Amino acid sequence: MAEPVAEPVLEVRDLVKHFPVTRGVLFKRTIGRVRAVDGVSFTLGAGETLGVVGESGCGKSTLAQVLMRLEPPTSGEAYFEGRPMFPMRGAELRELRRNMQIVLQDPYTSLNPRMTVGDIVGEPFEIHPEVAPRGSRAGRVRELLDVVGLNPEHINRYPHQFSGGQRQRIGIARALALRPKVIVCDEPVSALDVSIQAQVMNLLGELQSEFGLAYVFIAHDLSVVRHLSDRVAVMYLGKIVEIGTEEQIYEHPTHPYTQALLSAVPVADPALRGQRDVIRLTGDVPSPIDPPSGCRFRTRCWKAQDVCATEEPALVERGLPFDHPSACHFAEERSVVP
Ligand SMILES: Nc1ncnc2c1ncn2[C@@H]1O[C@H](COP(=O)(O)OP(=O)(O)OP(=O)(O)O)[C@@H](O)[C@H]1O
Ligand SMILES: [Mg+2]
Repeated sequence: MAEPVAEPVLEVRDLVKHFPVTRGVLFKRTIGRVRAVDGVSFTLGAGETLGVVGESGCGKSTLAQVLMRLEPPTSGEAYFEGRPMFPMRGAELRELRRNMQIVLQDPYTSLNPRMTVGDIVGEPFEIHPEVAPRGSRAGRVRELLDVVGLNPEHINRYPHQFSGGQRQRIGIARALALRPKVIVCDEPVSALDVSIQAQVMNLLGELQSEFGLAYVFIAHDLSVVRHLSDRVAVMYLGKIVEIGTEEQIYEHPTHPYTQALLSAVPVADPALRGQRDVIRLTGDVPSPIDPPSGCRFRTRCWKAQDVCATEEPALVERGLPFDHPSACHFAEERSVVP
């Protein structure tokens, strides 16, 4: 089952984002294009978490930027609560911006060092005064700091006076300020120490149940998103190669790329460690400017046959037990020790 259980809050259809590659300074000529996102479709249910996982450069942040309307799409559609998002302008766009927020990876660079925490968290109210009238803002900011586990008394401090984990909490408080329905989290814990990562992940989980938030949660490691995700999409070179429930992806993966990513996840239980055959991917990720023909993963795949170079496998169910969409001509289950 690849569809969310709840009503979709976000629906993405065949989304494409290409960046031109140019040469020359004075007379720029387009000599190619980076296929950063190349036909991505998924739905996100209200209150649900969709994990989006894949190696560096596979297009995760580009997907986030396009969904946040920070970059225009090359083609494709996206719907917020059933309404097409990309043509939105004016009041409708303002409402969309209220409802969709982003939390970024780097808490060191994403906060303005010259602004106090109170100003950072309260800034969205300047743009959307209807959410918190001027007189109530300081109180609202203190409440938000409290909700994310920060001391409301620190409202006048500056970002450098906080630790990495605390700064990420500031970013989360700011994202929550306008009571959004969707938060796109672009690797929000990747820059943090492992011990702090768990705390921030737990906080995001608590906030989700408290406020009914839906998350698109981006990470490059499958282990990071498992606990929080209802469903997971695995990306490779601009495309989703497998999508399914947490159980389907972690216990019954059928795409070789997912199987390879899973086999690289550290095993906590020493008794199980020896049982697992680690799949080592050979070669580098090919360039998204000139991706391989047919299946993009074939140049690194141990199952590749002639057909993989000529026919692109569609992201469809394959008639296997625990079925879910997988884009591989030779999709099959392979037990991966958890
Ligand atoms: N503004 C841009 N102009 C040209 N190419 C870009 C631009 N932004 C991203 N790209 C390219 O698009 C591809 C996807 O990049 P993106 O940042 O979306 O990947 P990612 O999956 O988020 O990687 P990471 O895990 O490193 O954050 C890369 O090849 C990148 O170089
Ligand atoms: Mg990124």
